[in-house]
Amino acid sequence: MPFADVYFSLVPEILEKFPEHKNIRELSDDEQSRLEGITNGPARLSYYAAHILKRHALSKYAAVPPEEWKFATTRHGRPEITNKPHNKKIHFNISHCNTAVACIISDMPQCGIDLEDVRRKADLDAVAEEVFSTAELAHFRKMRSKKPSRDTLARHFFSIWCLKEAYMKALGMGFKINPKSFGFKLSGKSGISIEPTGKLKDKDLWQFYLSQPQNNFILATAIVLS
Ligand SMILES: CC(C)(COP(=O)(O)OP(=O)(O)OC[C@H]1O[C@@H](n2cnc3c(N)ncnc32)[C@H](O)[C@@H]1OP(=O)(O)O)[C@@H](O)C(=O)NCCC(=O)NCCS
Repeated sequence: MPFADVYFSLVPEILEKFPEHKNIRELSDDEQSRLEGITNGPARLSYYAAHILKRHALSKYAAVPPEEWKFATTRHGRPEITNKPHNKKIHFNISHCNTAVACIISDMPQCGIDLEDVRRKADLDAVAEEVFSTAELAHFRKMRSKKPSRDTLARHFFSIWCLKEAYMKALGMGFKINPKSFGFKLSGKSGISIEPTGKLKDKDLWQFYLSQPQNNFILATAIVLS
């Protein structure tokens, strides 16, 4: 039975459980030097929190202590574990916004996650023009014309955005895939369908999931059951 577990945490919760002065050595040299390079305070803390969460979550699936996990990135930038025990199928993906972090762990190699704070300041119209497919944009504009509250529009916008990113991250490509080249349709409470794209073989094997782990956050995951 395949599994895909999702971990979500507010940054302060991680900092309280794993204070930086105590746990920073659990990060690799590479992670620590990336951390040092982040000058924006909230972004720095969320980077720390995401990588600590990832390490502690992974250690629930194999007898490897959090500080011993090793990673390398593919040529498209996707981090993968390089020292997992031979009998374990474990893959992961992380997402961090300034106030919260999330991680998916699965035995399916193609798994992706994205997390966004709906309060994030962004020019929703301009970004929609840049990243939404023709059908997504038409739907967004139709919704916009009914003059919904900013919150309602942002929740719709970030739901589509998160699904798109989770999908692009599950494929390990990130924005190397043109985000306008495929689109999602949300129907009802749980119905999520994706418009086929050139990249989307095995459409029926994809599973998408959209949730609000807390009031201001939208989280999406994408996995391929293989
Ligand atoms: C991957 C990407 C979509 C993430 O977007 P984001 O919303 O800013 O960030 P998120 O917090 O959701 O996710 C970031 C995490 O995704 C993971 N990630 C990075 N590249 C990834 C990829 N190609 N596929 C899957 N996951 C990826 C990393 O773990 C990263 O966290 P880290 O930088 O702290 O290690 C975006 O950064 C992207 O497309 N980057 C371009 C990849 C690229 O061109 N890399 C150049 C390599 S030559």
